[in-house]
Amino acid sequence: MSYPPMSRAARPAVISCESRPPERVDRREILLGLGGMCAAGSLGIGRDALALPIQAPDLSKCQPTGTNSGTNCCPPTTPPLVRPAAHTVDEAYLAKYKKAVKLMRELPPDDPRSFAQQANVHCAYCDGAYDQVGFPGLELQVHNSWLFFPFHRFYLHFHERILGKLIGDESFALPFWNWDAPAGMTLPKIYTDPRSSLYDPLRDAAHQPPALRQIDLNLSIMYRQMISSARTTKLFMGQPYRAGGNRNPGSGSLETSPHGPVHVWVGDPKQPNGENMGIFYSAARDPIFYAHHANVDRMWHLWKKLDPRNVDFTDGDWLESSFLFYDEAARLVRVKVKDCLEPEMLGFTYQNVEVPWLRNRATPRSAPSAEGEAAEIRKGTASFPLTLSSAASVSVKRPKVSRSSADKDKEEEILVFDVYVDETDTADVKPDDSEFAGSFVNVPHRKGHNTKMAAVKTTLRLGISDLLEDLKLEDEEELLVTLVPRKGKGKFNIGGVRIELSS
Ligand code: C2O
Repeated sequence: MSYPPMSRAARPAVISCESRPPERVDRREILLGLGGMCAAGSLGIGRDALALPIQAPDLSKCQPTGTNSGTNCCPPTTPPLVRPAAHTVDEAYLAKYKKAVKLMRELPPDDPRSFAQQANVHCAYCDGAYDQVGFPGLELQVHNSWLFFPFHRFYLHFHERILGKLIGDESFALPFWNWDAPAGMTLPKIYTDPRSSLYDPLRDAAHQPPALRQIDLNLSIMYRQMISSARTTKLFMGQPYRAGGNRNPGSGSLETSPHGPVHVWVGDPKQPNGENMGIFYSAARDPIFYAHHANVDRMWHLWKKLDPRNVDFTDGDWLESSFLFYDEAARLVRVKVKDCLEPEMLGFTYQNVEVPWLRNRATPRSAPSAEGEAAEIRKGTASFPLTLSSAASVSVKRPKVSRSSADKDKEEEILVFDVYVDETDTADVKPDDSEFAGSFVNVPHRKGHNTKMAAVKTTLRLGISDLLEDLKLEDEEELLVTLVPRKGKGKFNIGGVRIELSS
């Protein structure tokens, strides 16, 4: 299926429960996806029980009316805004962008569109400012779950609309930091001029251009996080998070890396918590945050084009999840996940650039070595819960061996770790501190008014079917899993390790 772009002019200025952009997935499709009409019939549910509300029309499919042929009452259309790669923008674009952010910084501090208030929106949704409605004491968190992609897509969208409005240019689009391609692997130059509104002094001085992340390794990480470790919707997008559920049920592959490491790489290690980018409460105070997240968002968009099996959740609890934002006219609007499934639904798209990591399936390196301890750690006798202060290994039984490719298409083999981070230590984590089956990187956050870092309890899930093929381990009944602490030794507790099959 393809979803024709929705025009900018046709996009409603306010997205609310009453007026929404066209919807890609309606509830009928969801019901069918959950077992089809037959299932409903066999449960004795009649047609009336399946009745659903009329949805707002899909404006992009508007046709001339039939009554008086030739009458065209369709709204006008213009092409979507195009977000450019930050390292490719020209002077004219840069001038507009700098002006827009400058004007945003100059808005009164109590204007919800001001730069400081915009940063606070992110802080509030990730640092325990809100409890879940109906569940006092249960923190609302938009990271480490299936809310990650849609929350940030909407957040950037409103930010972008406000910037455009401030410079009176409806066609203004945020740039994306193209960190998945060699040309974009340094911090984009447009953010480094200290006299510009795009500058933030709280960044790692050692990571200014031309400091580069390692190209080959990064391309392999991209392949792994977008393809090998992203073979199911949950593995890529994160674990379900429903009303009444605990925060941090588990992030998707891309959120874990490179999303997290890029945050930490940019933040200033001389600040107490890696401010600004290295910790959630302050991350959006750095203008580069929005370019970083535009590329994160672009990865969601790309992932769905990589394979017909890469599809969004059809679960109603995801589609109906809602957030509140201020729009360009400072009006509070409520938006639902189902209204942001394609960038075009919000009137934007991405500049087409080369995707160099598509062929970077990693050739596995030898298992990580821990000098001197090699023999000891390879016994596989670690027991849980385990505080990771040095390398440890454990033998984990596989649910099924020698799986056929049909098996693998149906279910991905997943290595699951229950992780508990007591405190955090962000200093000097590099994006390449990540390899082999995968890695866990935590972007810290604080809880509410507390100045101490919050403990994080979550799960890390790594798809390993490709890896087992590469390592020729497909017939083994047990796998020896080695855990190596890179940073924050003694602060990561592993509650257990297991292998699951899951679609
Ligand atoms: Cu909401 Cu990259 O964080």
